[in-house]
Amino acid sequence: MNQRISAPSTEILREIHQAGVEIIVRFNSLLKLGRLYSVKNVLFQEQLGLLYKRIKDNCQEEEATLKIREGTFFFRNVRLRFIFANYPAFKTVLQELTKREVAVISFLPELTESELETFIACLLKAEGYNQLLAGLDEAQIVHIQIEKGTERTSLTGKKEKDRATARIYFSSLLHLKDAFEAEDPHQALRLNTTRRLMQALFTHIVDNEAFVFGLTNIKNFDEYTLNHSINVCLLSIALGRRLGLDRNELIELGISAFFHDFGKIETPKEILDKPAKLEPHERAVIEKHPYHGAGTLALWREIKGIPLRAIHVAMEHHIKEDLSGYPQTFKKRPPHLFSKIVKIVDYFDAITTKRVYRPRAFTREEALSLMMDQGDKEFHPLLLRIFIQMMGFYPIGSVVALNTGEIGLVVETNPDPALTLRPKVKIIADKNGQRIDGPVVDLAEKDPISQRYLRTIVKGLDPEKYNIRPADYFMASTLA
Ligand SMILES: [Fe+2]
Ligand SMILES: [Fe+2]
Repeated sequence: MNQRISAPSTEILREIHQAGVEIIVRFNSLLKLGRLYSVKNVLFQEQLGLLYKRIKDNCQEEEATLKIREGTFFFRNVRLRFIFANYPAFKTVLQELTKREVAVISFLPELTESELETFIACLLKAEGYNQLLAGLDEAQIVHIQIEKGTERTSLTGKKEKDRATARIYFSSLLHLKDAFEAEDPHQALRLNTTRRLMQALFTHIVDNEAFVFGLTNIKNFDEYTLNHSINVCLLSIALGRRLGLDRNELIELGISAFFHDFGKIETPKEILDKPAKLEPHERAVIEKHPYHGAGTLALWREIKGIPLRAIHVAMEHHIKEDLSGYPQTFKKRPPHLFSKIVKIVDYFDAITTKRVYRPRAFTREEALSLMMDQGDKEFHPLLLRIFIQMMGFYPIGSVVALNTGEIGLVVETNPDPALTLRPKVKIIADKNGQRIDGPVVDLAEKDPISQRYLRTIVKGLDPEKYNIRPADYFMASTLA
């Protein structure tokens, strides 16, 4: 490969990268320590000394800059890549600096250790850029220069955050793929990595839930079990959060959900992907996957530290609330809470995904309706209600497409929690898409003969896309 003589060698770039990462990590420790102790504290001084040395080594001849661009750090123009272990430090420092609109920090060769100390103290005190600048001026800090970020930084920060979330999503996918495809899965599974990924996923769910939900719409046809496992994992964590489970429980729930279908490794692909209805003997093979999964996980429990609950989940996620389902064991007992959570999420993700044998998947709204209609025999009623609220609740003013082809505007929610998805809507467009001033209909209304609902929400619509201004209708009704 042609390399320009003047370009720094890979070795040098690597050193700069290493220094940059260490600077961020130490900077993070100092911000933390600075909040707890005075800057004269021994621990603070120790970290400060180390940070100072690192910076000094890098600004001997010319200034060294730490820049934030599009939510990413650059140290001496080298892009800093985080690894999972230092991700929290990157995130905190990035947040702290962006909050104060600092986009560039330049360290000049004459920098002194006491200047660095004062700089951090000023940063901790300042709430915004101007306050920080005033603090630095007052303390006469001249060998550290800061520059303000433009509006763009904060806008693209969101994009970068989404990108980081997507990155964790795909890393988890690859990790699971390794475990699924390895010749010897005993060798392949690195549970420490799984745990770390779960922690990262958890952080992203807390931070960026809407985007994470968006990611669960990734339904790759070929890699069904992989995508499905991650989606089930993400939605289970999100549901667990709403139940008030603590962080450690959520991580265990994540791991359990992640491996719920692990037994499918042993199901022949021809059966898993059979484009037609399964014969009874084939169904029997599929229905073995809970056994296989629980068996493998149990085998690993000792060596790898698989949580006991993951074994329960693998075994019980197809058991229904009325204890029917599979596998049927000699002694019936109610499944573990985690299994009930995974059961709901698993069912939802499965029916909203297109498969060779199911060319049309349910929309989110149809799936939730179907699940609700199945009642308490299939799912735990309270968990299901919370799940439905999490996934799809139509507040007043939402615009919805109905299975009749009409478009409606939600004007009144249904007070019965079991009928959350059946509000009253005003019909605003007919079957042909013609805008009309239609009646208000109750979606809980059934046909008296067939006992079927007359209308069901198929999906939510983006009012803007359809050029609908919900406010107009509400205004009109107040004037009427
Ligand atoms: Fe399953
Ligand atoms: Fe599943």
